[in-house]
Amino acid sequence: MTYEVVSLPYDYAALEPHFDAQTVELHYEKHHKGYAQKLSAAVALADERGYLLHGKKFSEYSVEELLMHINVIPESVVDAIANNGGGVVNHNLFWQCLSPQGGGSPSGSLLEAIEESFGSFDEFKLEFSDAAKTHFGSGWAWLVINHEGGLEVIATPNQDSPLMTGLIPILGLDVWEHSYYLRFMNRRPDYVDAFWNIVNWAFVSGLYEKNV
Ligand SMILES: [Fe+2]
Repeated sequence: MTYEVVSLPYDYAALEPHFDAQTVELHYEKHHKGYAQKLSAAVALADERGYLLHGKKFSEYSVEELLMHINVIPESVVDAIANNGGGVVNHNLFWQCLSPQGGGSPSGSLLEAIEESFGSFDEFKLEFSDAAKTHFGSGWAWLVINHEGGLEVIATPNQDSPLMTGLIPILGLDVWEHSYYLRFMNRRPDYVDAFWNIVNWAFVSGLYEKNV
């Protein structure tokens, strides 16, 4: 079983001037693909050791399913699967949430749900930006569908995925330094502000509609 990453849906330079080409290339080619290689190795190790989940080998599960079972994965491989499996799915979502034609605001049922949960789109942006800017250390800011079907902003540490706690992520922002340091150095808030110019709301709306 080899876990693959999504194809980057644009060129490395397509998100300029907001996200720079060198960072996008390194982030996708080295970091994201690196998580996939390490996940494949961890799943191969679990299979070698004969671990089963509900009677099936680990390699018979998608990475999303592995993350949803994270609480019952044996201790010797759980960190490798959480860190690298999270790294794979989080970045798969991240790249698709961005577009050179992005920015602006959503419409339709997603906008209505945002207004219902946060009061207004601007209030939502503020809450999400704050979660991204103030999260301590490496991690992610998310817009998720919660257990009640409502929308919520959360942050997770490291590569933890919202899927691990039964939440459905529909928009994610990577706040690891590897995602901004070359262009923005230590100015994470500037990176977060740049992000809003390239959010692919059509993609995020599609995910919302598919999952509610
Ligand atoms: Fe990253």
